[in-house]
Amino acid sequence: MQDLKELNEVITAIKEEIRQGADALTTSKSVYEFKKTFLDNKQGRIGLLMKEMRNVANDQKAEFGKTINGAKEWANNFFDELDQKLKEKEQQQRYESEKIDITMPPVKIRYGNLHPVTTVRNQLTDIFTSMGFEVYEGTEIETDYYNFTALNTPQDHPARDMQDTFYLSPEFLLRTQTSAGQVHVMEAKKPPIKVVSPGKVFRSDDDATHSPMFSQMEGLVVDEGITLCDLKGMLDMFVQRIFGEQTKTRLRPSYFPFTEPSVEVDVSCFQCGGKGCRLCKETGWIEVLGAGVVNKKVLENCGIDSNKYSGFAFGLGLERIAMLKYGINNIKMLFESDLRVLDQIDD
Ligand code: DAH
Repeated sequence: MQDLKELNEVITAIKEEIRQGADALTTSKSVYEFKKTFLDNKQGRIGLLMKEMRNVANDQKAEFGKTINGAKEWANNFFDELDQKLKEKEQQQRYESEKIDITMPPVKIRYGNLHPVTTVRNQLTDIFTSMGFEVYEGTEIETDYYNFTALNTPQDHPARDMQDTFYLSPEFLLRTQTSAGQVHVMEAKKPPIKVVSPGKVFRSDDDATHSPMFSQMEGLVVDEGITLCDLKGMLDMFVQRIFGEQTKTRLRPSYFPFTEPSVEVDVSCFQCGGKGCRLCKETGWIEVLGAGVVNKKVLENCGIDSNKYSGFAFGLGLERIAMLKYGINNIKMLFESDLRVLDQIDD
């Protein structure tokens, strides 16, 4: 190459090549690579034009150099502009892809809640401890003695038929009632005694309102001068707190070997207020627990002087209370762990 005319032709061709090549560039990285092929100090096509300088006549050298530098400047500006444009585009694309749609409904956070039987157990425990009761938790495996004999239910006693027992051996069994705890407490403590004992019990029984495993809460009060009236007074307070202030109690004569007299306790129906409805089977009353004055024989079996001390005891089924409170008509619903059911009961 010897003169400016030729140089200008080459430069025009290079510019055209750059413009056309630029159309295919989509990222700032590819701009950088493409730019290098023209503007690299050593290898760049525009840079290399300087080498032609030695063939150019002296009086044209200055203009020749200026023209090449002008081309360099043009190319630099061209690539800078292109780079800027692509970077903006890239950023825009990133914004688009990372966009958060704040109008989208969020994924619902699910909170757990306690099982209804646990809730009832906690509520009852709160009520009784606020009345000064201690909590004693017995064991699920018991001996025949604690579950029956000490509770005035010897081997051949007909009351044993009231509860179908799972025996583990002639001596050991799965407790059929938390009443077994009464004996342990009375053996270990001197009166005054005021204890509730919640826990699982087991009976070979299975239908819509009975399950082979269920939960009970036992209560026992022993002191000087305790009568059935104390039981009634405590029950009145208790049922008002668990079923509502209007709730009344009614005692019906019953039989349990470990209490004398024994009663079945009904509450006025908290659904219809006593008028009669499906829940109370049109009677206005609902049976909730068994209770009575502790049989003297039981006190004596536990080494407590029955001439000095007397007591009352009661036992209730936690599933039964949960079913009544939350309108559940099949006990199995409490054991199937169906979240559609359990979700609805959050007290
Ligand atoms: N243990 C009885 C049952 O499971 C309930 C019961 C009744 C407990 C009367 C008591 C009581 O303490 O005095 O059916």
